[in-house]
Formats: sequence, structure tokens, C-alpha cells
Amino acid sequence: MMNIHDFTKKKLAGEKISVVTCYDHAFARLVARTSIDAILVGDSLGNVVQGLPNTLAVNVDDMIYHARAVRRGAPQAFIVVDMPFMSYQTSVEKALENAGRIIKETGADAVKLEGGKAILPQVRALVEAGIPVMGHLGFTPQSLLAFGGYKVQGKGDAAAETLLSDAVALEKAGAFAVVLEMVPAAVAEKVSKACTLATIGIGAGTATDGQVLVITDLLGMDPDFAPRFVRKYANLSSDILSALENYAAEVRDVRFPSEKETFH
Ligand code: KIV
Repeated sequence: MMNIHDFTKKKLAGEKISVVTCYDHAFARLVARTSIDAILVGDSLGNVVQGLPNTLAVNVDDMIYHARAVRRGAPQAFIVVDMPFMSYQTSVEKALENAGRIIKETGADAVKLEGGKAILPQVRALVEAGIPVMGHLGFTPQSLLAFGGYKVQGKGDAAAETLLSDAVALEKAGAFAVVLEMVPAAVAEKVSKACTLATIGIGAGTATDGQVLVITDLLGMDPDFAPRFVRKYANLSSDILSALENYAAEVRDVRFPSEKETFH
């Protein structure tokens, strides 16, 4: 089982870290049977599970509900849980209270917060309270409205410098890792080389210390969603659609259930 120090150990050993999101018990049981290093219960559950247009409406109770199901399916996994929008930005006290609930009520190993220098007091307080923190820089979905859309971040010298100094500040504040989302590969490489905290990329090239993908994206469960940074390792949407159509047809034709599937 991974712990926070293994992230740094793997980075220093040049071993890439694989992270996948997960939101429920059924998928957690499957992830637990693989060599994936860590699970992120992302607030992307707003989009993926709740059908919302973005992550902004997700709340702490939603995160706890899903993280508990994931923990039950993957009892040994290293699980990081996202702190949702406005559960930590407003004050250190609020961050402590909500992160404390997440850790105590879900059995998660760490929380993830979006942002750099603006949330350093929160990161420091959580780390001091014994709650491991993963940061998240670059395109941070909770700032979607401020960014004005899904745009690559850290482009240009000034933005790249800010991103680098934010990563260094998070490391100094005690974060054990940071997600770098939708940033130019060269910027992610610079950050990864400059920091000892592990960098986990999504749309950030190959030089990061690991990668994270949303599980439904990598399994190809949405035929209408294919952002540039996603690789579909399966095409489950077509498997699922044909399984459902087969089932419906066999029910109509009274080919299901068979004798073998019937009690007497
Ligand atoms: O919420 C999420 O799934 C995330 C990943 C995209 C990194 O934050």
C-alpha cells in the first residue's frame, strides 16, 4: 500500500506514478485489483456522476458519500479526496473542519485542494493537523468561471513563473504532491525538475512524475467526450450499448431468461 512518502520515493527513483479517479464501489473493486498506485475521488464526480456542467456545485457531503463507497471497494488503496469549491477557500477554520470530516468519515489518506499562494495558510494548517495535502495547479476546474473556459494555463514566461513559484510554495507548505492540469509540457517539466514533491500530470506531457485520468474517460464510456489529453484504453460505451441492446432484444423475443436461468 502506498503512503505519502512513496510518492517522493517513486519520484526520486524515476518510477512513474499512476493515478485514476474513482467514484463508486464497483469501479473501486476493479481498480483495487490492478497495479494503479492511487485513487482520486475527484470532484469531477459533479460532471461524471451527477451530470452537472462543472464541479462548482459539488459539496462536502457528496465527496464523503462517494469516497466512503470507494474506500469500501478498495480497502488497501491510497485514496485522495478532492475538497470541493468553497469548502476551504474562505478560511483556515473551514478548511480544517471540512478536511477533518473528509478524513474521519471516509478513511481517505489525503485531500486535494486547488490553488497556489492564495491557499497556503490552509495547506500549512492541514499539514500541521496531520492531514496530507495534494495540490492542484494549472487549469483548476473550480476556477473555470475566472478562466473563462477550459484553457491551457501557464503559457508565456510570466504565467510559467507564477506556476513554478506556486508549486515551490506548496512544497514548502508541506504538500506531498501536486496535480498539474492542462499546462505546456515544458512548463510541467520545469516544475517537476525544480520540486521534490511529486507532480501528477493531466494534459501536461510526459515529464511529470505521474499521470492521472478520469476513469470514465480512459475507459471510453462517453462517445461524445474526447479531449486532446485523454487516451481511451477501452471503448466501453460501445460494449455497454451493445450489451443493453442484446438484453432488450432477448427480452422482447423471450430468449431471456433461458431454462438455465430459471428456478423451478
Ligand atoms: O476532479 C478531478 O477528477 C481532478 C482530476 C482531473 C485531476 O481533479
